[in-house]
Amino acid sequence: MILEVKQLEKSFGARRAVAGINLLLNEGEVLGLLGPNGAGKTTTLAMIGGLLQPEAGSITIGGWDLQRHPLQAKALLGIVPQEPALYPQLSAAANLRFWGTMQGLQRSELNKAVAEALAVVGLTERARERVVNYSGGMKRRLNIAAGILHRPKLLIMDEPTVGVDPQSRNHIHETVKRLQCAGTAIIYTSHYVEEVEELCGRVLIMDAGKVVAAGTVAELLRAAGHAQELVIKVNRPHQAVLSRLTAIPGVREAVMVGQAFKLLTLKAEQVLPLAYEYLLSQGLQVSAIEIHKPNLESLFLKLTGKSLRDQ
Ligand SMILES: Nc1ncnc2c1ncn2[C@@H]1O[C@H](COP(=O)(O)OP(=O)(O)OP(=O)(O)O)[C@@H](O)[C@H]1O
Ligand SMILES: [Mg+2]
Repeated sequence: MILEVKQLEKSFGARRAVAGINLLLNEGEVLGLLGPNGAGKTTTLAMIGGLLQPEAGSITIGGWDLQRHPLQAKALLGIVPQEPALYPQLSAAANLRFWGTMQGLQRSELNKAVAEALAVVGLTERARERVVNYSGGMKRRLNIAAGILHRPKLLIMDEPTVGVDPQSRNHIHETVKRLQCAGTAIIYTSHYVEEVEELCGRVLIMDAGKVVAAGTVAELLRAAGHAQELVIKVNRPHQAVLSRLTAIPGVREAVMVGQAFKLLTLKAEQVLPLAYEYLLSQGLQVSAIEIHKPNLESLFLKLTGKSLRDQ
């Protein structure tokens, strides 16, 4: 176990930002932390990173209690903050040498660590350029390099791909996979369900300072018993047809939205041919068919009534 968090709590005045969080993380595991704005993700990570004092609860990193043995615990930890912390007038390599020195790396190990970190994030070729000339995505990647110089066992990444171009985003995803292969455990915070589904073995969904769901992506969706949404667009939708669609075995609910019928079902592949045949028999023309599979976004909406990305 690389990380053990028990009953973590933190308030700012009357606002309970974190209200009793528990989490466990094994070596080499990537945990996705999902939640809308203000859910308490950054506050939780700041406490795990030793940057913020918890009001209650305990944090153990690699067996070291963060309160009682902060130096040993923090030595195992790397942090990639939500806002990049870089000196724009310095070169990328100079930024990393600065951070490496701050982390206590000796001169002999420093150059090697900097070269390795640059290679991991794919910036070796641009190492001598000043950061002021970097794109947003490149700054993000350099920010990650700064967090892994001392080869942490646990890496905290707070929304590393926000506002990042697709190429850099891919690079960051590859970096996460590479680090995981090397045995690094990662907490990966994001508003984007697609990347959490791709990268994270386990997911924790937070809302209002609490964990509202946890498990693998597959487990979460199964537990939610989520139905697929079958959307069939036709030329002339009308109510009489709707009631017959509702009666098709396996259809839980059917509604008419604009030019389309939306059917909620657990068996889209069985329902689709029956619905299609029926609509044709009624002289309707079908112009488009979509099957929306349940994802973490729809689960989140169902659990909290909120969207992951909106305020
Ligand atoms: N230093 C602070 N002083 C007062 N309130 C704070 C402070 N830091 C966070 N909060 C409040 O605590 C709550 C949780 O904030 P936090 O930054 O942890 O959310 P988050 O999940 O990281 O959100 P986002 O997705 O926007 O980054 C919010 O209501 C926020 O306004
Ligand atoms: Mg945050």
